[in-house]
Amino acid sequence: MIVTTKQLFEVAYGEFAVGAYNINNAEQTMGLFRGNIDSQAPFIIQISRGARGYTDKSFLEGMIRAAGDLFPEAIFAVHLDHGTEEVCYECIDSGFYSSVMIDASHEEFEENIAITKRVVDRAHEKNVSVEAELGMLGGVEEDVVGENPCLTDPEEAEEFIDRTGCDSLACAIGTSHGAYKFSGTQGIHFDILDEIKARKPGFPLVMHGSSSVPPEEVARINEAGGKLIGAAGVNTAEYLPAAKRGVCKVNIDTDGRLVWTRVHREHFRDNPEDIDFRAPGRKYMDEYAAFIASRNELLGSAGQLEAARKHVTNGGA
Ligand code: G3H
Ligand code: 13P
Ligand code: ZN
Repeated sequence: MIVTTKQLFEVAYGEFAVGAYNINNAEQTMGLFRGNIDSQAPFIIQISRGARGYTDKSFLEGMIRAAGDLFPEAIFAVHLDHGTEEVCYECIDSGFYSSVMIDASHEEFEENIAITKRVVDRAHEKNVSVEAELGMLGGVEEDVVGENPCLTDPEEAEEFIDRTGCDSLACAIGTSHGAYKFSGTQGIHFDILDEIKARKPGFPLVMHGSSSVPPEEVARINEAGGKLIGAAGVNTAEYLPAAKRGVCKVNIDTDGRLVWTRVHREHFRDNPEDIDFRAPGRKYMDEYAAFIASRNELLGSAGQLEAARKHVTNGGA
């Protein structure tokens, strides 16, 4: 059942975070649904603009609909990741997406507010939830490179939320996208979360750039011919403390790419005569499902499927 992120956050707030996982292809989609059903977790499927253009956006929609039919007990939101104003409108008007992210974080404060407010007005007419972003993450956000990441200012966050009417806010709290985070001694800025929570109690926050980049995964990729030097991610022990401070959505994409890369590199290294990509594809689906279930345990969303179902069927707005 497709639900809005707003509905999921009403269940999660202050208790656990919902995993938000990106998909690009059929194997990711199958692994994602299986892992969430195995761990009995509600979840968020994220579609980036890059994903929409990889095969075609209609393929993604078709795959998600097919997976929803195969796993009728699944409860999930379909969310546009890092949207522009134009792509947000496309997704809102499609009738398929239940949530969009308008990412105007690279604009000046007033312009970010104006763009976000326009998207919120149009989305809310169609019961679509809106995530906005304030502050700049390090690393690469689609085609925007954050060379000078700036952390979210809690006072600005309060004003931004009040003036835009957005349903959740992605905050820059020290994480960055991709496989190379925390080059120094940085970590998550819990103080920023605490201050936003004090100003806007009950308001859902979002953490981007949350992959943990497991060292053993990186080591296996490198042993199988990869070259990921200095890769490092978020400490997974920080997921729940963030959730307790109002982070309801934790975005994980890079870790799934690492699983894919490790499985395929090892398979073709160990089976150099092989050309049947379904063998590593099957292994990847199994391993990705297990990975998703393990993340849901760490986020506290594992075992929350029934609570989510009760909430949405009892008319959670
Ligand atoms: O924030 C970026 C996400 O990991 C999506 O990545 O734009 O390469 O699909 P992508
Ligand atoms: P990672 O690169 O840490 O997986 O972050 C993904 C993300 O924030 C997608 O919006
Ligand atoms: Zn992101």
